[in-house]
Amino acid sequence: MSVEPVVAVIVVAAGSGTRLGGDLPKAFRPLAGRSILEHALHPVFEMRREAQVVVVAPEAFRGEAQTMLTHVAGAAQEYASVVVGGASRQESVAAGLGALLPSVRIVLVHDAARALTPVSLLDNVVDAVAANARGIVPGLAVTDTIKRVDSEEMVVETVDREELRAMQTPQGFPRHALDAAYARADSEYTDDAALFAAAGGSVALIPGDARAFKITTPWDLNRAEHLLRPSGTEGIRVGVGVDVHAYDDNQELWLAGLHWPGETGLAGHSDGDAVAHAMTDALLSAARLGDIGSMFGTDDPRFAQACGEVFLIATRERLIAAGFHIENVAVQVIGNSPRFSARRTEAEAVLSGLIGAPVSLSATTTDRLGFAGRGEGLTAIATASLRATTAG
Ligand code: CTP
Ligand code: MG
Repeated sequence: MSVEPVVAVIVVAAGSGTRLGGDLPKAFRPLAGRSILEHALHPVFEMRREAQVVVVAPEAFRGEAQTMLTHVAGAAQEYASVVVGGASRQESVAAGLGALLPSVRIVLVHDAARALTPVSLLDNVVDAVAANARGIVPGLAVTDTIKRVDSEEMVVETVDREELRAMQTPQGFPRHALDAAYARADSEYTDDAALFAAAGGSVALIPGDARAFKITTPWDLNRAEHLLRPSGTEGIRVGVGVDVHAYDDNQELWLAGLHWPGETGLAGHSDGDAVAHAMTDALLSAARLGDIGSMFGTDDPRFAQACGEVFLIATRERLIAAGFHIENVAVQVIGNSPRFSARRTEAEAVLSGLIGAPVSLSATTTDRLGFAGRGEGLTAIATASLRATTAG
C-alpha cells in the first residue's frame, strides 16, 4: 500500500464559461481534440511529488469529469476524485477542500481554465509552500500601462506598474491554514490568496509563466489551439483512398459534391460519388481509422442512400474527435466524363467547405485504354494529409 499523499491539487472546473460562450461549460469545451479540463489535468499527473487530485465539476458533468480524470490519471487513480462545485468559484474551492485526505499538508488550487500551465509551475509552487510555509502565488509583471479612471471613464492617474503583478494559478497554501481561512470567510474574495490574506495569512510571490494564461474568451481559446498546433512536419500523416464506380444511364450524376444535370450517372450502393468516397477513405487511412466500409458499414441501411457529403462531414467529426486537423486533400478523377474544367473551382469550394481544409481536384482520361477508356466507369484517387494535434 502506498503512503497517502502530502500534496493535493484542487482543479476547479465548475464554472459555466459565460464569457467564452457556447453550449458546454468551459472546462468541457474541446481544445485540440481533448477537453480543456483534460489539458489542465495532464501536468498535474506529471508532478514530481505524488498528489491527491480533486476535480470540482458542475453537477451535470460529474460523470464526464470522472471519465476524463480516469483517462488522464491512468494507473495513478487511487487518490483522484471528482466533487460537485458551487455557484461561485469560492464555493467550488470549498467543496474541493472538503474532499482532502487527512494526510494532505500542502494544497494547490488551480483553474482548469489555465489549460496550458506547465508542470514546472505546479512543482515550483509546491516547493515554495514547502520551503516557506506561507501562501504562494505565481504572478507576472504587468507590461501595459495601467490607469485609474473615474465613473465617467475619465483618466484620473497612471498607476506605478512596478508595484503590480498579474496573478495566476496554481496558488499554494499550507493546508490547515487554508482550511481555517475558508472556515472564517464571510464574503466573496477575488482569489484564494485574497481570502487567505484576509484571514491573516501571509502570501509571497513566485514568477508566473505566460503559458498559464486563463482561457476566458473565444480569442483565448483560439490562441490555445494555435499554441498546441505542432510546427513544421511534426505529426503529419498521409493517407490514400481509391473508388471506382460503373456508369449507369438510369442514374443522375452526383460527383465531387455537385449535381451534374444531363451527364451519365454512376451505379453505387449510395449516390456513387466516387470523389467523396475516395476522399473519405484517404482521410480515414491517414488517421488509421479504417475505411469507409468499416467506419460507416456499407451494409448499414442508414448509409444506403447517403450522399457523399454525409460521409465527409461524419469523417471530419471523427477526425477532430480523434485529435486530428485536416491539412489538405488532393483528388484525381480518371474517366471520360464528366468534363471537370468548367466546374472545378465550384467542386473544390464545396468539398473544401465540407472538410474544412483545402481540396484540389484534377481530372484525366486514359487515352482510350482500359475500362475507363472504354467508358465503362470512373476512378477517383485521393491523397489526404492530416496533422495530429495531440500527443497520445
Ligand atoms: N469555477 C468554478 N466554480 C464556479 C465558477 C468558476 O469551479 N462557480 C472555476 C472555473 O471552472 C474556472 C476557474 O474557476 O476553471 C476560473 O473561473 P473563470 O475563468 O471565471 O471561469 P467561469 O466562471 O467558468 O467563466 P465566466 O466567468 O466567463 O462565466
Ligand atoms: Mg467566472
